[in-house]
Amino acid sequence: MNVSQLVEPDRVHRRVYTDQQIFDREMTQIFERVWVYCGHDSQVPQVGDYYAFTIGRQPMFMVRGKDRQIHVLHNRCPHRGVQLCGNQKGNVGSALVCSYHAWSFHLDGRFRSTPLPHGYDGTRVNADNPDCSVKPAARVDAYRGFVFASLSASGPSLLEFLGEARVAFDDMCDRSPVGEVEVVPICHRVIQYSNWKFFMENQLDALHPSVTHQSTGVAAGRVEKKIKEATGAAPLYYHYLSAFASKFEQWDAVQTINFPRGHGILKAYMGLRPQDPDTRAHEAMLVEAYGAAKTEEYLSRSIHHVLVYPYLSVQSPLQQLRCLRPLAPGKTLSEIWHFRLKGAPEAIYRRSLWYYNLVNSPATMVNADDLENWTKGQWGLESDGGDWVSFHRNYGGDTEDGGVVYSNKGTSEAVMRNQFRAWSQYMADAQ
Ligand code: FES
Ligand SMILES: [Fe+2]
Repeated sequence: MNVSQLVEPDRVHRRVYTDQQIFDREMTQIFERVWVYCGHDSQVPQVGDYYAFTIGRQPMFMVRGKDRQIHVLHNRCPHRGVQLCGNQKGNVGSALVCSYHAWSFHLDGRFRSTPLPHGYDGTRVNADNPDCSVKPAARVDAYRGFVFASLSASGPSLLEFLGEARVAFDDMCDRSPVGEVEVVPICHRVIQYSNWKFFMENQLDALHPSVTHQSTGVAAGRVEKKIKEATGAAPLYYHYLSAFASKFEQWDAVQTINFPRGHGILKAYMGLRPQDPDTRAHEAMLVEAYGAAKTEEYLSRSIHHVLVYPYLSVQSPLQQLRCLRPLAPGKTLSEIWHFRLKGAPEAIYRRSLWYYNLVNSPATMVNADDLENWTKGQWGLESDGGDWVSFHRNYGGDTEDGGVVYSNKGTSEAVMRNQFRAWSQYMADAQ
C-alpha cells in the first residue's frame, strides 16, 4: 500500500479514517514508536502503586518501584502470558505476583522467584534470562511530572519529541506557586465511534464551535446576560459556554501555530483573568514565588489548547488533559483528566472543575455535540458517497517559518494540513 497516494497537500482520501490496514500501520509506525503519555507522577504516589493503560495496541502499566522510580512495563507474565495487573489501578505491594502460578517479579519487572524453584533446575528459567523478566518499555521519561514511554529504543528524546508543545506542561505547572500539579484521581472514559484523527483535527478547528455548539453557547449567553443585568456580574462558568457562540469573525481572528510532528496551539480566545479577589489572591501567591515579571510572563501566554500529536489535547490554563487510546479505525477511547494546581487557592481549582464538568465531561452538551459530528463523519467516510476529504480553507495562505506554520486565520484548515504532513512522514518512514 502506498500511503502517499492517499494524502495530498489540500485533501486526503477517506481510507485514512476507515481502513484496517492503515490503522494497523498507524499503531506500529506511530503509536508504538513515539513517546506516549502514560499518566501523571501523582497517580502512583506509593511504592507498589500501579496504573494500567495502552500504548498503541500494547497493554502496559506504570508502577512505582522501591527506588521511587516509575517503571513502565508490558502487562504480561513471562511464564504463560497472563496479564499481571487485572485492574485499572491499585497497589501490588512489594512485588508483582502473577495470579496464575505465582511467578513473582520485582517492581522494576526483574524476575524474583517461582514456587518450588528446583522444578526449573537446568532449564532456561533463571534470573539472568531477560525472557523471564517482565518486558519494560524501551524508554521512559517525564516532563514536569507527566510520564511518557516509548516502545522504540531509538528516535528523538522526549524533549525533542515534544518540541514547542512542551509549553502545555509549563503553562499548567507555572500557574502553581510551587511549580507542580497533582492529578484529580477521577477519569472520565468515553468511547468515540470515530477515528482518532477526527478528535485531533477538531481541537484546533475554530470554524466549528459557533455552529456545533451554537445551541449551548446561545442559551448560556442569554442566562449570563440576565444575571449580569440583575447583579452586575455573572459567574465565570457562564463565559466558558457562551464563548462558544462567538461570531465567525471572532473565531477567525484567533491564531493557530502548527509545529513539526503535528503538534499545535490554538491561541486564547476566552478571558480567563478576571479581577476578582480569588484571582488576585492567586496572582499574589505567584508574585511571591516567582516575582512580578515572571508571573506576568506565565499568566500572559496566549493558549487555549495545545495538541501533542497524535493523541493529547491539553488545556493548560484550565488544567485539563485529554488523551486518546485508539482501538479500531472507527473506535477511539478518550481519557479525560483534570489537575489541581499545588498550593493555589481552592477557588482556582473550582474553575478547573467547572470546565471539566461543563465542557469536557461526557455529560455536557458541548462534548456530546462534538461526538455526534464525529460519529456522523465516520459514517459518511465509510460510505461510497465520495472519496476525498477537503482541507482547502485558506490553502496557499499559510506562512511557514523554520518548519512552523503560522495561520492568522483561526478558521484556516492549516491545522489539518499540518497534522497530515506529520502523519505522512511517520507513515512513509515505515516503508
Ligand atoms: S502465567 Fe504467570 S505464573 Fe503462570
Ligand atoms: Fe467542539
